[in-house]
Amino acid sequence: MLKPSSESTLNTEQIRADFPILQQQVHGKPLVYLDNGASTQRPIQVIQAISDVYEQCYSNVHRGGHLLSSRSTDAYEASREAIRAFIQAKSTNEIIFTPGTTFGINLVARSWGDACLKAGDEILVTEMEHHSNLIPWQQLAQRTGAVIKAIPITDEGQLDLSALPGLLTEKTKIVAMTAVSNVLGTINPVAKIVKQAHAVGAVVLVDAAQSVPHEATNVQTWDADFVAFSAHKMLGPSGLGILYGKESLLDAMPPFLGGGSMINTVTIDSFTPAMLPAKFEAGTPPIAQAIALKAAIDYLTDVGMENILQHEQNLTQHAHQRLTEIEGLRILGPAPELKAGLVSFDIKGMNPRDIAGILDTQGVAVREGHHCAIPLHQRLGISSSTRASFYLYNTLEEVDQFIEALKKATMLLG
Ligand code: ALA
Repeated sequence: MLKPSSESTLNTEQIRADFPILQQQVHGKPLVYLDNGASTQRPIQVIQAISDVYEQCYSNVHRGGHLLSSRSTDAYEASREAIRAFIQAKSTNEIIFTPGTTFGINLVARSWGDACLKAGDEILVTEMEHHSNLIPWQQLAQRTGAVIKAIPITDEGQLDLSALPGLLTEKTKIVAMTAVSNVLGTINPVAKIVKQAHAVGAVVLVDAAQSVPHEATNVQTWDADFVAFSAHKMLGPSGLGILYGKESLLDAMPPFLGGGSMINTVTIDSFTPAMLPAKFEAGTPPIAQAIALKAAIDYLTDVGMENILQHEQNLTQHAHQRLTEIEGLRILGPAPELKAGLVSFDIKGMNPRDIAGILDTQGVAVREGHHCAIPLHQRLGISSSTRASFYLYNTLEEVDQFIEALKKATMLLG
């Protein structure tokens, strides 16, 4: 249940002191950073961890016969274990380092998809997917002749689960769904959908880019087959993502990229792949990023994922309440208690680009545009929207500053 919006579950003053970037002014105004759905900021603990790698233990991993290489390999694998524990996977063999969520989804579409799909098979997505969880499936459909179908959304911005029994058939081979919409903020019932998908023999891939950073994740409770997310959206370094996959599935899948590290044996015209997880980590991986992600996970764990979600929902609830003060404004998505910490909106007759530009002059950073979700915006009857997305360091006062800046924007644009 939501607590009243005036309460805070977090000591934001203490948290903000850890984020040097938040201490600055932009355009002469204190920075109010509300673009966390696109990318979050990093605390000094993560910045220090990146610096420590390069100052103390940097070397390539799983290669060198020297001390620095064993230090960096140990730290790299310790981070893999921290991620395993954070999302409650069974084994570190199920944790693949990737360059990001998009890469992870493409890996599954290429490796699992090319091996398992044929013409006439069905891929079930949802109307609220980010392009990252649409285009790889469209490309797979183009290669194989598979057909794409979509779970529709209701006018309130939730998945219309009444359509699911009609859409899930023995032809459905994979369901690719987001856990949290990057536009609507809707928290989707992953476990429920996985159960129904498994009943028809389909596997499920979850785009968890907007959920793992904001709520406690248990991939075993979800029972999802694949889960992809990104480090830069959870206080971690950019250029790094995680693909979780059930070990039995990853084991059976062919490698995606070929190169160093992913082999067991090689001759001039053949190879045998390495065991997991190396099989899917060809080439030199993002070493410093992977090692430093552990510091981000430690930070989030210390604060507590339940506290973070509660805090974000308080902020979202407060934002919802105050946005009603603005004439002609439509909030996209459901009630705050059904959402993770973001709010997107449309203001009749006003261009989101102009709104974001004026907010920026007031120090408030938001995202505008189609948010890589064009089909969703079409469903909503608009071409773009403005989004404020929150994280653990944002405050109720910042939400108020955002609203005041928005009022100024509407006065100037009205
Ligand atoms: N997927 C990111 C967003 O929603 C970039 O902004």
